[in-house]
Amino acid sequence: MSAQDEAKRVAGRRVIEEFVRDGMKLGLGSGTTSHFFVRELGKHVADGMRLTCTTTSRATNQVAQESGIKLTDPNEIGELDLTIDGPDEIDRQFNMIKGGGACLLWEKIIAHASKRMITICDETKIVDRLGSFPLPVEVVQFAWKQTQRMVEATLGHHGIGNAVIERRMRDGQPVVTDSGNFILDCRCGPVLDEPAPLEIALNRIPGVVENGLFTRESSGMVIGKFDGTSDVHL
Ligand code: 5RP
Repeated sequence: MSAQDEAKRVAGRRVIEEFVRDGMKLGLGSGTTSHFFVRELGKHVADGMRLTCTTTSRATNQVAQESGIKLTDPNEIGELDLTIDGPDEIDRQFNMIKGGGACLLWEKIIAHASKRMITICDETKIVDRLGSFPLPVEVVQFAWKQTQRMVEATLGHHGIGNAVIERRMRDGQPVVTDSGNFILDCRCGPVLDEPAPLEIALNRIPGVVENGLFTRESSGMVIGKFDGTSDVHL
């Protein structure tokens, strides 16, 4: 296992130790870091920890099931105690860019359905200011090029006049999210100065379903480090 994967696993173990308690209702995040956490969680469930869990993507459904974690429909679970998820970038105020795995919509819904969100990551995800990672914007398929033009204009109004926006592709096909939408990746960098107003402005565009700026959700982070240690920041 690479040092980075080991750091992700360390973060997953530490977040359970610090924040997960018997009887909780949990939201399980998406992406490789979250999947390390889910596999670790499966061991606790096998040892008798009682949890009620729902997930933020079909990919995490599969990992949870493989790990022996029973899942509850998000419509049946009610308010969650805690969601644990990973970022693509996170600053020290816990503002994030998410959506590198195209799961941002379900991730944001589940984060908001939770009393608390804690972010887990390895140390490479921490930045002074957001912006290097291309900002994902989930858009409906209908007239997506029109929506793209409006996204470009909105970025321009927020001082990002030179964004390069591309529909996400994989193996020559457009990526389609778990909700059936496209992803526009917006290279805005190197710095997004004011992520909170930009998050709101992007979501006002007809055709935009959600964007990958998470500026209100996380209240802490657990960082797995390459030397095998971990830190908790609240
Ligand atoms: C998916 C996400 C992921 O949580 C994010 O991309 C982090 O993934 P990883 O842990 O693999 O780096 O936002 O939409």
